[in-house]
Amino acid sequence: MIITIDGPAGSGKSTTARAVATRLSYVYLDTGAMYRAVALAFVEADADPTADAASRVLDDLRVDVFYTGDTMGVRLNGRDVTDQIRTQAVGTMASQISTLQAVREKMVAEQRRLGTHHVETHGGVVLDGRDTGTVVFPEADVKIFMDADPWERARRRKKEQEAEGRSVSLEAVHKEIVARDAQDRTRDIAPLRKAEDAVVLDTTARTIEEQVDFVVAQVEDARRPDANGT
Ligand code: DC
Repeated sequence: MIITIDGPAGSGKSTTARAVATRLSYVYLDTGAMYRAVALAFVEADADPTADAASRVLDDLRVDVFYTGDTMGVRLNGRDVTDQIRTQAVGTMASQISTLQAVREKMVAEQRRLGTHHVETHGGVVLDGRDTGTVVFPEADVKIFMDADPWERARRRKKEQEAEGRSVSLEAVHKEIVARDAQDRTRDIAPLRKAEDAVVLDTTARTIEEQVDFVVAQVEDARRPDANGT
């Protein structure tokens, strides 16, 4: 069972995807964290987000994911960078380097490999990102597109950052979210968009629990023997 959850920053994808995976005993794969690890490599190499730089940076770069219980972590060339990839600078760089074809090819291939492996070992995988239902697994069993009002998304992001000890203004977070949305939606390769067969979940006025229930209900529907006419 492959479940994809795509949507813009702050729509609630990661929290929901993680909880759905836990509830169904599937594995969670945060594809954004993988792009963030690549972005950190660019930041550390002081490289601009260009195709030229990508060929150098990607050359000897390895991104691995690992799990501590239900929590996914990321390693960059063997180093645990799970916390380091959560800064605003890395987020902005991730949005930029994820427009580069070489970066996407490498990440998509790795995400397909990991997703297939998780299905084999755990019966299912829940991926979250921007293109997991359109590009990574277009044949996924359940596709969700999550969205929410940008101010609500900014409020959530601000709260998250404050919980991590960073103080930011709501206006600044909103501005960053709107800029990142525009970047993610208008890029040439794998732009953020709803797959035609994805179900939209607007989370503006929903609790996490309602979101998780909604996705799990979709999965239960898809599991019914007559779900695809068989
Ligand atoms: O979900 P996130 O904010 O951690 O993702 C960081 C950036 O990575 C985001 O701006 C776009 C990019 N990304 C992507 O292009 N494709 C994905 N499947 C996931 C993330």
